Amino acid sequence: MARNRLPKAGTVEIAPSILSADFANLASEIGQVTSAGVKIVHLDVMDGHFVPNITLGPPVVAWIRKCTDAVLDTHLMISEPRRYAPRFIEAGSDHITFHIETVDRPEEFVAELRKAGVTVGVTLNPETPVETVEKVAPLCDMVLVMTVHPGFGGQKFIDHAARKCIQIREMVGPAVRIEVDGGIDATTTPIVVGYGADTLVAGNAVFGQKNRVLSLEAIRKSIP
Ligand code: DX5
Ligand code: ZN
Repeated sequence: MARNRLPKAGTVEIAPSILSADFANLASEIGQVTSAGVKIVHLDVMDGHFVPNITLGPPVVAWIRKCTDAVLDTHLMISEPRRYAPRFIEAGSDHITFHIETVDRPEEFVAELRKAGVTVGVTLNPETPVETVEKVAPLCDMVLVMTVHPGFGGQKFIDHAARKCIQIREMVGPAVRIEVDGGIDATTTPIVVGYGADTLVAGNAVFGQKNRVLSLEAIRKSIP
């Protein structure tokens, strides 16, 4: 399967999270944001174990794959990413992000994912120290900094968690994307971009709003 690649680092991209979208109309929901220039769609996978919520699995990703050429950025908030990642890759995910809290030999896992043809991201919870990703972060295409506790959309942005972007940018240099996830809107965007983030996940601020095009435009305009 030909994979879509993340845009090269150097541009700020908005990655709408479908968690706040109408799941009965996903094709139209995704079409609205890709027509407005979105290149990355963020898919939140939750297992009811690593996080206290359950969302979507590989069959849903396979249906989404049929309706868009956007990069499917798959955020695995699951206890056993090593066990299930191959199924998401088979379903059409282009990018897989796993939580550092869930994997024993992360460098090895990154190599396995790459071999399977996808780009790779590692992420860390707000309370997880930056040092835990020191070795693996430079091996990834993107590092995701959680700016809320994972599990639900529409939560309040945690500034001290977002500040980790500064240290992570020092670790990875300019070629690796830094993504932020949780509470991102037109108010927090200038803050996180100032910390070094270039990939902005936005659920409630896009799909939680009536007019997705205007909402995207408001976030874009707030990019410094
Ligand atoms: C939270 C998810 C997020 C979520 C963000 O656990 O990882 O991707 O959809 O939602 P907002 O933008 O509403 O905070
Ligand atoms: Zn997410």
